[in-house]
Amino acid sequence: MLWVFGCCFLLLLNICFGIEQKISLNSENDQTWSFYATKNTSLKGYGNVPGDIYTDLWRSNIISDPLKDSNDVAYAWIGKTDWSYSRNFEIPSDALNASQIRLNFAGLDTIASVYINNIFVLNSKNQFIDCSVDLKGKLKPSGNTLRIDFTSPVTYAQKQSDVYKAKYGHIVPPDFPLNIQNGEPHPQFVRKAQASFSWNWGPSFPTMGIWKDLWISYSSDPILMKHMSPLITHSPSKFNVQIDVEIFCNPRDPITFTLLSSLPELSIKRSNDFRIICDKSGISKISQNISVPEASVELWWPNGYGSQKLYTLQTNILSISNSAVLSSAQKKIGFRYVELIQDLVDPTRSDKGRHFYFKVNSIPIFLKGSNFIEVSDFPGRDSTFRTKFLLKSAKEANLNALRVWGGGIFEADDFYALADEYGILLWHDMLFACSLYPVDSEYLSNVYAETTTQVQRLRYHPSILVWAGNNENELAIMSGWWYVPNYNIQEVIADYVKLYRDTIGPVVKALDPSRPYLLSSPSNGVVSEEAGGVGSDPNSEMYGDIHFYNEYINLWKDGSYEIPRCATEFGVQSIPSRDTLLSYIKESDYYYSSKSFLDRQHHTGGVTTLLSMTFSHFERPQQCSDQNNLQGCPYIQNNSSFLAPFSYLTQLHQALSMQVQSEHYRRWRGIINDSGKGNTMCALYWQLNDVWAAPSWASIDYNLEWKAIHYFAKRFFAPVIVSLYLDENGLLQAYVVSDKMTNISNAEIKIEMFAWTNGFKPVYTQKQAINVAPLASTAIKIDTGFASSLSTAPSDFIIRGTLSTPSDGNFIAPTAILHPDKFWNLSNFGKVSISNFKKIDSKTYEVSVAATSVAPFVWIDLTPEFKQRNPFIGFRFSDNAFTTTNPTTIVQLLFEIPPNAVTVGDISVCQLLTCFR
Ligand SMILES: *[C@@H]1O[C@H](CO)[C@@H](O)[C@H](O)[C@H]1NC(C)=O
Ligand SMILES: *[C@@H]1O[C@H](CO)[C@@H](O)[C@H](O)[C@H]1NC(C)=O
Ligand SMILES: *[C@@H]1O[C@H](CO)[C@@H](O)[C@H](O)[C@H]1NC(C)=O
Ligand SMILES: *[C@@H]1O[C@H](CO)[C@@H](O)[C@H](O)[C@H]1NC(C)=O
Ligand SMILES: *[C@@H]1O[C@H](CO)[C@@H](O)[C@H](O)[C@H]1NC(C)=O
Ligand SMILES: *[C@@H]1O[C@H](CO)[C@@H](O)[C@H](O)[C@H]1NC(C)=O
Ligand SMILES: *[C@@H]1O[C@H](CO)[C@@H](O)[C@H](O)[C@H]1NC(C)=O
Repeated sequence: MLWVFGCCFLLLLNICFGIEQKISLNSENDQTWSFYATKNTSLKGYGNVPGDIYTDLWRSNIISDPLKDSNDVAYAWIGKTDWSYSRNFEIPSDALNASQIRLNFAGLDTIASVYINNIFVLNSKNQFIDCSVDLKGKLKPSGNTLRIDFTSPVTYAQKQSDVYKAKYGHIVPPDFPLNIQNGEPHPQFVRKAQASFSWNWGPSFPTMGIWKDLWISYSSDPILMKHMSPLITHSPSKFNVQIDVEIFCNPRDPITFTLLSSLPELSIKRSNDFRIICDKSGISKISQNISVPEASVELWWPNGYGSQKLYTLQTNILSISNSAVLSSAQKKIGFRYVELIQDLVDPTRSDKGRHFYFKVNSIPIFLKGSNFIEVSDFPGRDSTFRTKFLLKSAKEANLNALRVWGGGIFEADDFYALADEYGILLWHDMLFACSLYPVDSEYLSNVYAETTTQVQRLRYHPSILVWAGNNENELAIMSGWWYVPNYNIQEVIADYVKLYRDTIGPVVKALDPSRPYLLSSPSNGVVSEEAGGVGSDPNSEMYGDIHFYNEYINLWKDGSYEIPRCATEFGVQSIPSRDTLLSYIKESDYYYSSKSFLDRQHHTGGVTTLLSMTFSHFERPQQCSDQNNLQGCPYIQNNSSFLAPFSYLTQLHQALSMQVQSEHYRRWRGIINDSGKGNTMCALYWQLNDVWAAPSWASIDYNLEWKAIHYFAKRFFAPVIVSLYLDENGLLQAYVVSDKMTNISNAEIKIEMFAWTNGFKPVYTQKQAINVAPLASTAIKIDTGFASSLSTAPSDFIIRGTLSTPSDGNFIAPTAILHPDKFWNLSNFGKVSISNFKKIDSKTYEVSVAATSVAPFVWIDLTPEFKQRNPFIGFRFSDNAFTTTNPTTIVQLLFEIPPNAVTVGDISVCQLLTCFR
């Protein structure tokens, strides 16, 4: 059955004649689309559109769940096989005689040839370009067929790489993925998600398929709208909304029409009549402007700075003769303006470097956030729920920024709409990562088309803060990641500049002056540009942004960290929960050295560093007493009862590491030291999400469980924090950091020391009134009373910092806890239990946790049985992984999808020494 969508239900019938009609060619049922291996037609099944070949083979029972066990390795043949998809379709009789009729693809993945009734009509070589074919004269009254042949991206990439090498005399590095990644080589030769050939956190699934909608559009009128792309720019006291519209028209046909755009909430309308003669491309561009006084709108703000007001922009193409609506489009736009400040820190001393921070609506914004990898390795699957949960979780944890990383994809429309709605600023890489790239003219024109398409598609989103050319490619060149025979550094740099500065740069600058464009991340910003495109030290603390990774230092120590302007990547791995892993690997494989588990560890040395980092702070459960001989312990390698508690400890190690590092960056807000370092304005940890269940840097695992770090982030990214640390001399230091725009006068800060052996009674307390300055970091003078305990027995104490308004005692910052560096030989922790449980509403429950004494790292969870009965319902607690210094802590249990019933028996609670043992 065909389904037709138009406006006839909404508008009066008399204006429906001539309006654009659409016929979806997505799957209508399980058998609309079929697929087969192009070279072996007996390997076949029914496909789903939108979709991908892995998911279709699974649905057809030819393979099992590709995300289970070691199936990514077992199914490597799928990505190396060519596949064909086809369906039959009928069209209404009026469509045959339409003045315009087109077949439209929102996205093909990736190397594809399209045939209508066995006649070739289109080639596509880019996952990120939409395309459209004129169908006039190509259709039959009935029994039409559509077939799309996909060439394996793996064999295509290999062939392109061979041809390039033969032509230019050198390879384009890297030439192969690391063995540990079980991946495929040369993704840089295909304009497709680079991580689909594997990454150090993800499997190789070089998908093929029709990953977005496809449809036929037609009209009895000679005009069809291709797209409407608003651009919102700012000048003193007003915004300009430039509405660019592209239309399909018939070459040499003179056409007349009215373009009518409106912002109904502002009672603004603009109408222009056009008479154009379409050129032979069959596409015409028209444009109109609406000026909007700044005073008449509510500005759009990032999360934490104000609301996210969005306005509907409606654009219609009308018939001049009878005002009938011929085509229409609608977008939600927001009014905000962005600046990137890169002034010299000291105009008289250029050696002190340059600032690097963003202002939104003239307010300097500290970017608190993370990095977003592709929402799914199967881009054709419906990821609406996953996307919403991830972005909502980002907002709930006080993040205001995400970096859409260059190895992923331009995400689906809902991703950007939700970022707008939640106030999540997007640092958007172009899709190039950790590689050099070919720069032959065919490749560059493919990139040119991709950039044009995506910038036009996305530029109206207020959430997008900045475009950046690539991930780490400038760093790779200047750090000498690869040695390539017959390709010297000057040639490498010249090719690099051709792509990011000379191909992508002009497109972005011409189409989108509403936000800055950076060449790379990390880079030195304007200093890399002044150097011709590549800075001498792209990871410099003095300029631009940095990426920071080190697994051989104490990540819980403030002094371990650099003082950059902006940190856009930093992180450390942890292992997801037992429940999450066991939904993808067998229970008999649930131990550290099993093949199933090791196949999921794609990070070189990851096994060893997780052990050594974690057990430099925590005691190993029970066995081997020699803290210095971690590898010698057989339990560590083999025992299944080790992995669950160890996983929790890796999560705590990650959480504390990211807390120390993120607070370190936040404390440097507005502070510059004598050498010019400081005024750090970004902390984007690596990474928010996962594409499978595996050890990774993510803060939310593949089953959408928040790891400990995500709960920590909610605290360390709060608008106002108390931050405590020990300096190089072991002395306590305290700061209050505020991202609020207003002064908080006469607040009370209380810093207390607790011993593990003294119940809930502090052993030392300091209390004072302070003014919390807006958008600033303020040092608190510490009493000398803390020093002797901390220098003689640092592991015996924790420090608590609270900030409240004395008038009502309300806390204005999360409770800050400074934990000891070592949890060795400690056992005097409080016991924890659930003391009360009640339902608030279908999505909200209240859990009370009682503690007998101070208890570290309390973890509240749902039982494995409950999670099995209710997978993917988006649960989380309002707080978790906290160290309690109170007899009772009340938290909320929240669900995105209401479960049938939750009882107290579905909840568990534990602390450091009792979790998962
Ligand atoms: C074609 O596919 C079928 C079904 O999977 C398989 O049994 C057969 O061996 C394949 N033939 C070749 C030549 O690969
Ligand atoms: C389409 O056009 C043909 C030839 O002009 C005409 O014979 C036919 O009736 C038209 N069909 C419809 C549905 O308008
Ligand atoms: C719209 O405004 C922009 C920016 O002010 C200007 O460059 C452009 O020419 C205007 N377009 C039209 C159609 O007025
Ligand atoms: C642990 O695993 C290794 C390799 O898989 C094996 O050689 C060793 O005997 C195992 N040790 C124990 C205690 O099971
Ligand atoms: C695993 O370790 C636990 C705790 O030391 C021990 O009780 C258990 O017997 C061990 N199991 C195996 C299979 O070695
Ligand atoms: C500034 O900070 C850097 C990095 O910590 C440090 O090496 C340097 O000594 C500091 N300079 C001053 C004057 O504090
Ligand atoms: C904040 O409030 C205090 C006390 O009212 C005042 O002294 C201080 O100047 C204010 N600071 C700012 C930046 O408004």
